[in-house]
Amino acid sequence: MNLSDKIRNIPDFPKEGILFKDITPLLRDREALKEAIVKMADMFRDYDIDYVVGIEARGFLVGTPLAIELDRGFIPIRKPGKLPYDVLKKSYELEYGKNEIEIHRDAVSEGDKILIVDDLLATGGTTLAATEMIEELGGEVVGCAFLLELEALTGREVLKDYEVKSLLIE
Ligand code: PRP
Repeated sequence: MNLSDKIRNIPDFPKEGILFKDITPLLRDREALKEAIVKMADMFRDYDIDYVVGIEARGFLVGTPLAIELDRGFIPIRKPGKLPYDVLKKSYELEYGKNEIEIHRDAVSEGDKILIVDDLLATGGTTLAATEMIEELGGEVVGCAFLLELEALTGREVLKDYEVKSLLIE
């Protein structure tokens, strides 16, 4: 199956000039969803991973099934004010604005090997902020897995210190 065909381009969303990549057609198709998750898992099956970290919200949609496929636990990174326990917070620049993300301080322990997962690699700002938080908590980022990478936005350069793998590259 051509998984790229299952990602819909929405011009000027959420702001003028942004071409939004809508993954809901892929999620809705049971074969496409399964193929995407299994193939993303295949990219990192040979890696030594303790936990999968997913970034709210679309990172949860691919991150949790990926964690199940890799037989690992899942750790959420969330938008501010959503996690109930003691959190570590980070601010970062987004393609269209500023954002903040949080992680539970006790979610990652010294030496934990972490795979970060998100649906999209654009500027790389979100994932870079996630790597900084994980490392501040003593974790080691062994890889970053994306469903789709927008090559022109050069997020891979921002994440040059990490093993970055994307299932689809546009
Ligand atoms: C999107 C996407 C990634 C991030 C990628 O999330 O899901 O998390 O932007 O952009 P970057 O590489 O430039 O950092 P968004 O903040 O739109 O939130 P959502 O997942 O809740 O829709």
